Amino acid sequence: MKTLTVALGDRSYPIYLGKGILDRLPALLVEVSKGGATIIVTDSNVGPLYGERVASLLGPGTAVCALPAGEEQKRFAQIDWLCGQFLEAGLDRGSMVVALGGGVVGDMAGFAAAVFMRGIRFVQIPTTIVAQVDSSVGGKTGVNHPLGKNTIGAFYQPSAVVIDMALLESLPDREIRAGMAEVIKHGVIADADLFAYLERESRAILAKNVQALDMPILRSCEIKSAIVAMDEREHGRRAELNYGHTFGHAIEAVSEYSRFLHGEALALGMHAAGVLACTLGMVDAAFVARQRACIQAYGLPTVWPELPVDAALEAMRHDKKARSGKLKLIVPDRIGHVVQRTDVDDAALRDALEALRG
Ligand SMILES: NC(=O)c1ccc[n+]([C@@H]2O[C@H](COP(=O)([O-])OP(=O)(O)OC[C@H]3O[C@@H](n4cnc5c(N)ncnc54)[C@H](O)[C@@H]3O)[C@@H](O)[C@H]2O)c1
Repeated sequence: MKTLTVALGDRSYPIYLGKGILDRLPALLVEVSKGGATIIVTDSNVGPLYGERVASLLGPGTAVCALPAGEEQKRFAQIDWLCGQFLEAGLDRGSMVVALGGGVVGDMAGFAAAVFMRGIRFVQIPTTIVAQVDSSVGGKTGVNHPLGKNTIGAFYQPSAVVIDMALLESLPDREIRAGMAEVIKHGVIADADLFAYLERESRAILAKNVQALDMPILRSCEIKSAIVAMDEREHGRRAELNYGHTFGHAIEAVSEYSRFLHGEALALGMHAAGVLACTLGMVDAAFVARQRACIQAYGLPTVWPELPVDAALEAMRHDKKARSGKLKLIVPDRIGHVVQRTDVDDAALRDALEALRG
């Protein structure tokens, strides 16, 4: 087992990583649980797979509540429902919420824990690649609003994150591929060696050889925790984690959040960002080809022939308005390094989007 620390002063917390470490949960959480009432928040897919096991590890009296699975559940009404479940289970200020699931469960359980009795302890047990390498670390919690994704929420750090790669064995293949987009992102923004490893090991990783996922998950957590420790509230370097996301969010918006999983939209977004970097003279065509080949090796898309370019540009402008008039783009200048640009004109954005039409 490896242990990392997200260094945030008195809100610092450990990330425990290792295959099969779930069985050590009672020992890992001994500091956190302090013997109060505990509730597991999960969803209708993960609950039947791991809910009972985690409940019995956490001891008698542990309550379990399961949300229906799916992004469409990530809405404010479900926070009200979760708080009702917490009250019925007898939770008080000394209690603990355990998020057992993917990013949807983690974001919602974390937000509910942040607002319930003005904040109770919570622990993340992420069960998707997206959640293990990204959403469980860093304290962004929240829900969607019909007028905007992830627009309601709070920064609320967990007390611990327990990452057991063995839980990925039941994850559907499409979710594995989509999760790998976030790992590729970490390689491009911060670690050329990680990127080269991903190029070499795509077969083993897609075959769910959990051993092959050890290093990329650990490295991703190291990269994310280091950035979060530097810039918890995204006033500076944390924005680098949004590489590919400005295009990706526009692609999700124009496809009404139904055609692509987030990681698939991110894959398209990273390719567009690579093309943009080339247009801006920051990388050469070889960079674009190399990044594209790696994305494709994970069965992720780099073209969408029907992409409505005007609508996507409009969605990016909307994003810009939401961010006080400045569209901040994260653009690579080599594998393993990115810079922030706020001076990119619409023509360059249009070219990058056009490239996605193939
Ligand atoms: N807070 C953050 O910093 C952050 C970062 C990235 C993404 N997110 C959010 O995370 C969400 C996406 O997360 P996700 O990709 O994990 O999606 P998800 O939580 O919807 O999980 C994907 C699917 O896999 C199922 N599943 C989960 N674990 C499983 C397992 N081990 N075996 C079998 N099935 C399993 C789920 O029930 C679901 O159907 C989005 O809402 C996104 O906004 C948040």
